[in-house]
Amino acid sequence: MMRSACRTSPHVTSFHGWLRSATLTACLLLAGVLLPERPASAQSLALIPMPAHVTQEKGRYTLDATTRLQYSGQASASAADEFARLLARSHAISLQPTPSSIPTSGAGIEFVLDPTAKLGPEDYRLTVGPLRIEVVAAQAPGLFYGAITLWQLLPPGRDDHIAIPAVHIEDTPRFPWRGLMLDSARHFQSPEQVKQLLDAMAVHKLNVFHWHLTDDQGWRIQILRYPNLTQVGGCREKVDMPGAGSQECGFYTQAQIREIVAYAAARQITVVPEIDVPGHATAAIAAYPQLGTTGQRLPVSNERGIHANLFNVDEGTFEFLDQVLAEVAELFPGDYIHIGGDEAIKDQWRASTRVQQRRHELGLADEAQLQAWFITRLEAMLVKRGKRLIGWDEILEGALPASATVMSWRGTDGGIAAARAGHDVVMSPSPDLYLDYLQTDTPGEPAGRPKTVPLRTVYAFDPVPAELTSEQRQHVLGLQANLWTGDIADLAGLEHAAFPRLAAVAETGWTPQADKDYDTFLARLPTQLRRYRELGIGYASTPFSVVLTAAATGEGRARITLSNPLGYPIHYNINGGPPDTSSPAYRAPLDLALPVTITAAAFADGKVLAAPMSRLIDATTLLRHEDEQLEQCAEDGPVLRMANPRSPEAGGLFNVAILAPCWRWSDAPLDGIGTIRVRAARLPYRFRLGSEEERRRRFLPATTAQGELDIRIDGCDGPRLATAAMPAHVDAEGLATVLAPVRLPARGAHTLCIRFSGDTRPQMWVLDQISLQPTDPE
Ligand code: ACM
Repeated sequence: MMRSACRTSPHVTSFHGWLRSATLTACLLLAGVLLPERPASAQSLALIPMPAHVTQEKGRYTLDATTRLQYSGQASASAADEFARLLARSHAISLQPTPSSIPTSGAGIEFVLDPTAKLGPEDYRLTVGPLRIEVVAAQAPGLFYGAITLWQLLPPGRDDHIAIPAVHIEDTPRFPWRGLMLDSARHFQSPEQVKQLLDAMAVHKLNVFHWHLTDDQGWRIQILRYPNLTQVGGCREKVDMPGAGSQECGFYTQAQIREIVAYAAARQITVVPEIDVPGHATAAIAAYPQLGTTGQRLPVSNERGIHANLFNVDEGTFEFLDQVLAEVAELFPGDYIHIGGDEAIKDQWRASTRVQQRRHELGLADEAQLQAWFITRLEAMLVKRGKRLIGWDEILEGALPASATVMSWRGTDGGIAAARAGHDVVMSPSPDLYLDYLQTDTPGEPAGRPKTVPLRTVYAFDPVPAELTSEQRQHVLGLQANLWTGDIADLAGLEHAAFPRLAAVAETGWTPQADKDYDTFLARLPTQLRRYRELGIGYASTPFSVVLTAAATGEGRARITLSNPLGYPIHYNINGGPPDTSSPAYRAPLDLALPVTITAAAFADGKVLAAPMSRLIDATTLLRHEDEQLEQCAEDGPVLRMANPRSPEAGGLFNVAILAPCWRWSDAPLDGIGTIRVRAARLPYRFRLGSEEERRRRFLPATTAQGELDIRIDGCDGPRLATAAMPAHVDAEGLATVLAPVRLPARGAHTLCIRFSGDTRPQMWVLDQISLQPTDPE
């Protein structure tokens, strides 16, 4: 057995790019990439997730268009088909799988389903020899994963003859639940887009697709008995057109759902639908107001955040939910139905005489117990249909039926408590596995949450908490990453958020814990990116980009710092074209005379990882900062990277702390500055923040209708450096530029605090760019 031959020892895990480069080169040498006669190392095979056991052999199998691709056992057809499909996409070689009634031992590739093999349902054995490749599994899922691994063994290129390294792999997953959640309520994805995500899950050996189908912002699953759920609950007013009556709508018909469930099943993926109760219910209540607690007619929400609207606890509501779950149970053959249970703030239940009367009748002490009773009613509805209940960790807040499974999202505490209480658990903690948190702090990130969850964090997450006993650990079914779509409007955004971080989730879900190693994962990652490109999966390029920071050092010079978010080595040129590996390697900050143009890119295995960055640095650019270059002053409260709905194509994106918008520029060079020019956007404010609202700070008092730009020095309580009234009108993109004369004789570098006065909701000013302008341009 040979595992992870290039694992770096713990004391070099935090090395800098150049050392990693040296290590990678050493790995490749050891791997035999440069010495082809020797067996390749497990690492050079660049499999993700890394299998449990890999043994290299000498030699190779050569695949070409004449290779015989066979399968024995009907259930093995889908594995052979998947291999043929992937091969055609990546290498443009078309092989037609053919059945063989008995396993043969002849030349070619054969997928063998052998129910007598002593293997678990997802296990497989894969042997690549000079004449024959054999994949054996006891059950269809194992054979399918063998097909994925075999495809991953293919070297790149569109040669007619593909040399596959000889190898023997014995593989088994670490966890039975390797999940991805997609929120189709906040933004709707077409059935084709859902299938694209399922395709991508399959090549990561992920096996649970948790589908968040209902929320305040949309009800997306057709329920035949209640057509308003989708006719009314599937549409909402468009955010960029308040009052204009323009709607955005979307739902999945039952026929589409059946097709997606079958598509997933062919890829060994079980679909777990989520019907979120008793909160996140606004769309359902908009469709059928009698379900709500206040009796008010509500629109489907087009706001973000936590809404107060709860289902009521009348018997009619349980009849409704029973009928809904009957149709859901019919559509989804898997064991589990997810009933949400999260973020149900209880204000409406507390204020409702009817709900309180019911609570007293039931002898329940408080609203948490009422929710527990609600969930228990649903569990009975599921059990009678042969289904199991899973819910977010709030379902632990009252007595919970023993058979219920808990999905831990508020960190891992809920999961720990649930496992201790004997419940099965899926670990899906925020923020570590919340893919709507951005993965880098580079300016190229799309809308999302700028508190970053980098690849390293996702990779480091372990679903089995150390504090559990070995018996309690058995309850941890696995892990799941979540794609919430409040900020993610399209497939490109989903793919950016998911990849490559989902590769890290996949490795944690599959690979033995002892074999996980972040540095070797990074060494394998460029090959995974190549696979993404072959399959048309649009991964994020930001982790592979180069970030530049520049600071004036006086006398027309600047200190330039380059970095790559993942620590891959960087090469750069000064006043030259795009860099290659013969360009200077970046090792330390550069002290350069201005003006200067820097081009730089990150590299692995001699290949560029993402499009090179090019930046001109001169006296003017040093005095200008985009919002991404500024810090947020607020220590708490949500920070969002918000898209400008007026000009999504223009790509305007703004980092803003929505409870207390405020930006800080540390070390702003104020010598000789006479005017500050600020470009700001006026964005719609559409948030419900529940109890977080209380943390909203008071706005500075405004003296004009639209509020004023307000810039202080030396902290937000410091003297006012500059101010200017904000205009009544913005341009077609929602932007306005104001010039604020400097009112203090400031010299040297100071920290600027930049705010806008006045509570101008339902719109708010957000900073886009700030420039310091010298009094005398000379
Ligand atoms: C959740 O993020 N509300 C489960």
